[in-house]
Amino acid sequence: MLRSSVDPGTAEFQANREGMLARLTEIAAEHAKAVAGGGAKYLARHRERGKLTARERVELLLDPDSPFLELSPLAAWGTDFAVGASLVTGIGVVEGVECLVNANDPTVKGGAINPWGMRKGFRAADIAAQNRLPTINLVESGGADLPTQKEIFIPGGRTFRDLTRSSAAKIPTIALVFGNSTAGGAYLPGMSDHVVMVRERAKVFLGGPPLVKMATGEDADDESLGGAEMHARVSGLADHLAEDERDAIRLGRRVVARLNWRKHGPAPATDYAEPVHDPEELLGIVPTDLKVPFDPREVIARIIDGSDFDEVKPLYGTSLVTGWAQLHGYPIGILANASGVLFSEEAQKATQFIQLANQTDTPLLFLHNTTGYMVGKEYEQGGIIKHGAMMINAVSNSRVPHLSVLVGASYGAGHYGMCGRAYDPRFLFAWPSAKSAVMGPAQLAGVLSIVMRQGAERRGQPYNEEHDAAMRAMVEGQVEAESLPMFLSGMLYDDGIIDPRDTRTVLGLSLSAIHSGPVEGTTAFGVFRM
Ligand code: COA
Repeated sequence: MLRSSVDPGTAEFQANREGMLARLTEIAAEHAKAVAGGGAKYLARHRERGKLTARERVELLLDPDSPFLELSPLAAWGTDFAVGASLVTGIGVVEGVECLVNANDPTVKGGAINPWGMRKGFRAADIAAQNRLPTINLVESGGADLPTQKEIFIPGGRTFRDLTRSSAAKIPTIALVFGNSTAGGAYLPGMSDHVVMVRERAKVFLGGPPLVKMATGEDADDESLGGAEMHARVSGLADHLAEDERDAIRLGRRVVARLNWRKHGPAPATDYAEPVHDPEELLGIVPTDLKVPFDPREVIARIIDGSDFDEVKPLYGTSLVTGWAQLHGYPIGILANASGVLFSEEAQKATQFIQLANQTDTPLLFLHNTTGYMVGKEYEQGGIIKHGAMMINAVSNSRVPHLSVLVGASYGAGHYGMCGRAYDPRFLFAWPSAKSAVMGPAQLAGVLSIVMRQGAERRGQPYNEEHDAAMRAMVEGQVEAESLPMFLSGMLYDDGIIDPRDTRTVLGLSLSAIHSGPVEGTTAFGVFRM
């Protein structure tokens, strides 16, 4: 069992805790924007029409009191589009089945899909495919966001491709249509296995009345072109005709109940213990200044079952902690950075550990706090590139599910080796304390300054120190802002920023979703450069 040396009584712990709480308050304000959707005016209009909001639809769909793991809630943060990108996505339990749920937010630009909502939808589809989760689309959308159509029309076709590929993989897809679903949007029900439409509300047509008039001169009304009743009785596009929104949700739940769904992954142990150390203390462990190291075992001790950890190679490559544990009853291997820098020993240790996990079909959790692989003559000559490449090879070709949590820094190729976004972890979450970039802001500005100074010398020009100071300050500020979790979450580089205290719960929900699919390791890695 891991022992803890955290002392909540120290000034340092309190300062860390206050720093973390301040960041959580800032993030909560941004989450509130996503929940507010299109704002009071559009919400009131939506209600006057007797409609439920996107989140109310999700809540009614899920089993009572069951959790919803919302994904990418801050998508589009820092862009011209509304925070959340007019789409709610997440994993929830319907009739005991974990499903990927997408809900258009009709209060934001009529639920039109903008470039960020499109990418958020792609990410949700990837999660459904990788983890074998049935998809339920709660549809009410004005289709493509017309002013940005050039960014979405061509790549957006993937949405419908993903639906039918999911069906081909025997992962069910369900569309509950609450309102508009026209033009390309008509293929949402069109490509789904099961379709429910709400009477007098659903409108599903390739072209609405004005477009039909323009194209063929025919006069037609909404109902005869694409009403729910027409689709249920005449075209056959609707399998079920719902009386109202609640009835549609009831019918959707019945569809899931009849899927005869079975998970393919092994079931978790049911007799697991909670961590011995208090998760509340996770708020005070990561220093506000990420240059100050912290022991990741203090984090591990507060997220794993019984704080029970079997460390592997504790005496070798000590700036990376590796070991076996259980989380909400699921076996897991953990790789956690201890002092920031990855040396050759750590890279080799990680490679061996990833291979071991693949031998035993054990999922892996990466806890990031790394400034990258060590640089310098001694380390280059010692083969740091080769060894970093070994670790990146192992992480790329490993087939057991990976989970990543950015706890502190995640810089340079260290982000890659620790299974950063491009390495397809099944889920990647960030703590408010996380920072990620090609390197630290000060280092990046310093490198740029050296390169520019050398350039001026080569050209025989004088170097303007005043400009240099201004440039460094500007670049440092920009990179600092771009390294922060809200910015990265806005760009969909993570699946959400989480409260450190929720880490165990979020990882437990993720592992449970992951086990909808099989969990199998590989022995087929690329050529390891020795
Ligand atoms: N692209 C960009 N903005 C859109 C949009 C779209 N596809 N659809 C709606 N909006 C905007 C509206 O301009 C309006 O913006 P504003 O309030 O800032 O003026 C806002 O969303 C709400 O639209 P509104 O028409 O007032 O809402 P509604 O609930 O009465 O109707 C729709 C919603 C979706 C039925 C209706 O807006 C519509 O038919 N949109 C076009 C649908 C279409 O043909 N899309 C092409 C698909 S490829």
